Amino acid sequence: MKKPAPIESLSAAEARHEHARLGEEIVTHDRRYYAEDAPTISDADYDALRQRYEAIEAAFPELATPDSLTKKIGAAPSEKFAKVRHRVPMLSLGNIFDDEEVADFVARVRRFLGLKEGAPLAITAEPKIDGLSCSLRFESGKLVQAATRGDGYEGEDVTANVRTIGEIPKALKGTPPDILEVRGEVYMTHADFAALNTRQKETGKTLFANPRNAAAGSLRQLDPAITASRPLHFFAYAWGEISTLPASTQMDMIAAFKSFGLPVNPLMVLCHSAEELIARYRHIESLRARLGYDIDGVVYKVDSLALQNRLGFVSRAPRWATAHKFPAEKATTVLRAIEINVGRTGALTPLAKLDPVTVGGVVASNATLHNEDEIARKDIRIGDTVTVQRAGDVIPQILGPILEKRTKDAKPYQFPETCPICGSAAVREIDPKTGEAEAVRRCTGSLVCRAQAVERLKHFASRNAFDIEGLGDERIEQFFRDGLIKTAPDIFTLPDRERRGLINLKEREGFGELSVRNLFNAIIARRSLPLNRFIYALGIRHVGETNARRLARHFETFEALRRTAQAASEGSDARAEINNMEGIGEVVAEAIADFFAEKRNEEVLDALHKQVTVVPMEAVASTSPVAGKTIVFTGSLERMTRDEAKAMAERLGAKVAASVSKKTDLVVAGPGAGSKLAKASELGVETISEEDWLKLKGQEG
Ligand code: IVH
Repeated sequence: MKKPAPIESLSAAEARHEHARLGEEIVTHDRRYYAEDAPTISDADYDALRQRYEAIEAAFPELATPDSLTKKIGAAPSEKFAKVRHRVPMLSLGNIFDDEEVADFVARVRRFLGLKEGAPLAITAEPKIDGLSCSLRFESGKLVQAATRGDGYEGEDVTANVRTIGEIPKALKGTPPDILEVRGEVYMTHADFAALNTRQKETGKTLFANPRNAAAGSLRQLDPAITASRPLHFFAYAWGEISTLPASTQMDMIAAFKSFGLPVNPLMVLCHSAEELIARYRHIESLRARLGYDIDGVVYKVDSLALQNRLGFVSRAPRWATAHKFPAEKATTVLRAIEINVGRTGALTPLAKLDPVTVGGVVASNATLHNEDEIARKDIRIGDTVTVQRAGDVIPQILGPILEKRTKDAKPYQFPETCPICGSAAVREIDPKTGEAEAVRRCTGSLVCRAQAVERLKHFASRNAFDIEGLGDERIEQFFRDGLIKTAPDIFTLPDRERRGLINLKEREGFGELSVRNLFNAIIARRSLPLNRFIYALGIRHVGETNARRLARHFETFEALRRTAQAASEGSDARAEINNMEGIGEVVAEAIADFFAEKRNEEVLDALHKQVTVVPMEAVASTSPVAGKTIVFTGSLERMTRDEAKAMAERLGAKVAASVSKKTDLVVAGPGAGSKLAKASELGVETISEEDWLKLKGQEG
C-alpha cells in the first residue's frame, strides 16, 4: 500500500475526496465481512482504512455528517460508545478454590499432553487483578484502539479514555510486532479509590462500592476529561491478535511486553509443580493486604506457548490456565456502635462501626447490616463479637454474632423510631399486598430533614409543582450547599434578603444583574399557586399529581385538608374520610396522616403560608372536548407515562377509569391494546390513538 499523505497536508477538497473513497471501500469490506462471510483484506488493513477515515474526519469536522460511517458503528447512538469486535475473543478463566484442585489442574494438563512422570512442566503464577479487562491494539507500535471486554466477542471503544491513562504508552519502545493486541487489567489503587470516594462525597455524588466499580465507572465515561481526572493503572498479562510472537513462553512474552514499555505485574514467577504453585499462592495471599490494589486470586498458566496451543480451549476458557481464587475472607471483631444514615429519600440505613480489622486485604471499620429485620433476625447487639466477611465490596457484611463471647449486659438492639438527622418520626409502611411492614424505615420529616432537603427542594421548584424558572436542580444544590436555602420558604425570602444586603446573589459566579432579576420575578410570580400544585409540591409520599388533584378537589382549601389530615389518626373518622376518597387507599392515607402529624413539617407549612397564597384548584377546562367525560387508557403509551396521561385528562376535566364499561365515553388506545379495545368496539365506545390524544394538549385549563 502506498504510504498515505500526512493528514495535515491535505486540502479540504483532497480530504473530502479521500474520505468519500475510503467510505466506499469500508462499506464494501463490511459487506464482504458481515454479509458474505468472505473478507478480502486482513483485519489490520481494514482497521487501517477505518483509522485513516476517522483521522480525516477528526481533522475536517465538516465531513462528520450524520451519514458518516463513524456515526454508524454498531448502530449505537452517538453518545454511547462504539462497539469493537474482538478479532480474538477475550475469554474467561476457570476457577479453582483449594489445594486439591491445584493438583487436579496440573494432573489434567499433564495427562492431556501425555507427559511422562518426571517430565518437566513449567507453569507461571501471577496475581489475579480485580479490575476490568481491556484490549489495547497497537499498530506499528502506536496505540490505535482500546476496547473493554464486553461479552468477550464485542466490547466498547474506550480509546479516547485509555489515552488519558499515563501508564499506558501511546507508542511502544523497542521492536514490537506490527500488530499487537495487548490484554490486561485496568485497576485503581486503594489510596486513589479512597480519595475518589471522598471527592464524590464532598460533591454529593454517589460513592463507588469498590475499586473495581470505580475503575469501570471511570473508564466508561463519555467525557475523557473525567477519565483523565481519575488515576487508573494497567497490568498487561495476555494478548489477542499478534502479527509475530516475540517469544515462545508466557514468561518471555511478559518480559517482552515490559521491554515495549508496558506495565507488567512484578509478582509473576515460574513454578514446576503443584506444590510450588500452592506455595506461591500462599505467598501472594500473605502480601495481599499490603499490595495497595485489589487481587482476588492467583492465575496459573502453562508457560510454553506451544503447549498452550496443544491444550487449547474448553468452551470459553483455556485448558492451559486457571484462576485459583481467594476464599471470601472472614474475620472477627467487636461491633462498637450502629450508626443510622438517612438517604435522600428518607430511608434509614444502619451501618455497623467496628474495631478496625483486616479482612480480604483491606482494613475495615464499617460493615453493612442491611436493615432493621436483619439485625433482629441475627440478634446482633452492640458490644457483640461478630464475624465479618468481605466479598469484593469495600464494606464487608456482618455474618452474625459469636454468642459464646456475648457479655451479660448486651441488650437487643432497638432500631430508632425517629430520624437521627431531624428528629421526625421514622415509620415503616405496610405493604397492602402482604400486610407486612416494609423492610425500610423512613423519616417523615420530608420538609425539614437535611438528608432529604435537597431532593425535596428540587421537587418543590420543579415544573409541575412551583415551577420556578431559573431555579433548576443545579442551582438548588448550590444554594443549599451555601446555606442560602434550607427549607422551601427560604426560596421566597431570597429577594428580600438580597434587597437588605444579607445575601449577594448578583456577585455569585454564573449570576448577573439580569439573571438575578429574572429569578426574583419568577419567584414573585409563584407567590400564589393553585391548591393541587401546592399539595403536589409538598412531596408527601405517594401523593403525586393525580392524588394531589383528588385531595384538592375533595377538600377545596388547604386548611380543610390540613385539619382533617391532622385528625387522621388510625381508626378515626378523619382517616376514614381520606381513606374512602376515590383512588386513595390505606397506604396513601397513612402517608398523608404521617406527614401532617409531624410537628416539624407543620412549622415549615406555617412559614410557607406567610409567603404563598394558595388559590383554588386550577380551573379545569370546562370547554375542552373531553370535559366531564370518562376516559380509559389501554395499550402502551409512547409519548407520556400513564400518570402523565391521567394528570392531563384531569386537567382537561375528564375522569379516568380503569376498565371499559357502558359509562366509558372515550378509549385512548396505544400499541398492544387488547381486551379493553375489543370491549370498547363491542360497546361502540369512541376510540382514539395516542396521537389524537396529544392534540388535546394545550387545551388544559
Ligand atoms: S489471563 C485466556 N491473567 O480474570 C485467559 N486474566 O476470570 C486470559 N484477570 O477476564 C486471561 N488478572 O479480566 C489473566 N493475571 C491475569 C488476570 C486475569 C485478572 C481477569 C481477566 C479475565 C478474568 C477471568
